Amino acid sequence: MARRKVIIGATPEEAARWQALVSKHGSPLLVFDRHVLRQQYEKLQAALPDVSLYYAIKALPHNDVLQTLDSLGAGFDVASSGELELLLSLKVSGRRTIHTHPIKRDKDIRDALRFGSTTFVVDNHDEMKKLVPYRSRIGVLLRVSFRSENAVVDLSRKFGCTESDVPALVQAAEQLGLHVKGLSFHVGSQCQSPDKHVEAIQCCHALMLQVNETARAPLATLDIGGGFPADYELKGFDIERFCAPIREALNDLPADWHLLAEPGRYLVAPAVTSITTVIGKAMRNGTPWYYLDDGVYGSYSGQIYDHTVYPLQVLKQGELTESVLTGPTCDSIDVIDEAVALPELEIGDLIIGHQMGAYTAATKTRFNLLPDAAFITIDQAVAAT
Ligand SMILES: Cc1ncc(COP(=O)(O)O)c(C=O)c1O
Repeated sequence: MARRKVIIGATPEEAARWQALVSKHGSPLLVFDRHVLRQQYEKLQAALPDVSLYYAIKALPHNDVLQTLDSLGAGFDVASSGELELLLSLKVSGRRTIHTHPIKRDKDIRDALRFGSTTFVVDNHDEMKKLVPYRSRIGVLLRVSFRSENAVVDLSRKFGCTESDVPALVQAAEQLGLHVKGLSFHVGSQCQSPDKHVEAIQCCHALMLQVNETARAPLATLDIGGGFPADYELKGFDIERFCAPIREALNDLPADWHLLAEPGRYLVAPAVTSITTVIGKAMRNGTPWYYLDDGVYGSYSGQIYDHTVYPLQVLKQGELTESVLTGPTCDSIDVIDEAVALPELEIGDLIIGHQMGAYTAATKTRFNLLPDAAFITIDQAVAAT
């Protein structure tokens, strides 16, 4: 696990802002800032100017997030009928979606088609057969697996065909009457470097050229997936620098190929801040334990499912002591950190969790039937004017 960044203290203005939000909306809270999301989208789009961005809804499936991205002209990567329904309720056009779940039930396909989604990802022959009844209305992206040792979450173990399977699968798709538009991959979430993206782009480039020598309709779409990282260590991550080698690899592709990406984490992680309150404290074997009103069954669920260590901030200064921070449930796994250096906290003090937009609220549970963190939306750009 990565080391946790902890910020001790806050400016009076900063502290007053968090306190005011809790006074108004209660605790625990998840505070979504539309302005930050807009900035992230614009930075990623500037770093990958020739790539159409399809937001991976699974990272944070919230109306206000989708509306903000919709207003920027983003597309959407959907993986379930529930995600499609959310888009439908916001009147987003199905034409701006791709269905990326490689394993689908017939109902998932029919729901997607009814909504107007016509691009589907597959990675094997059995999945292709499911699409045959709808073949006149759809295009297919074939997902290729690229195992990634340097990603925090390897997404190519469960999905994706091997490189060597590609020519035969394209041929099989043609025999089934399916239109293969191109290839897709996901080199893993929270990538530590762009190397795997570059390797996968180069490999798919070669595969597509090879297949196009004999294919009935040439493959001309490449979907480079997600994996763009969040700045969990608050080191001032530079997406432009991260994407430079990716851009270079994309520049080598034929100019008329259509390029897509499915970013989730990079867009939403910094747009959401968690605010929790100390609701209890105890001294156990000489170590202070602080009990918060949110934990790993709630907004901090990504510590379990997503292997993420979120940066924290306490608003006060003081002598630091190794302390334990826990969530509110009765389960002993509900510990946010076993050894975090903190000043002495009192009941009612706030703990701020930064970079908490991706795979947090999306994976929370209702264990112990404790209340969810309220999700509120702010817009710093508007507040500042
Ligand atoms: C198919 C697919 N696309 C996109 C994403 C988003 O990836 P990330 O959040 O790393 O950008 C995921 C994450 O699980 C995924 O499974």
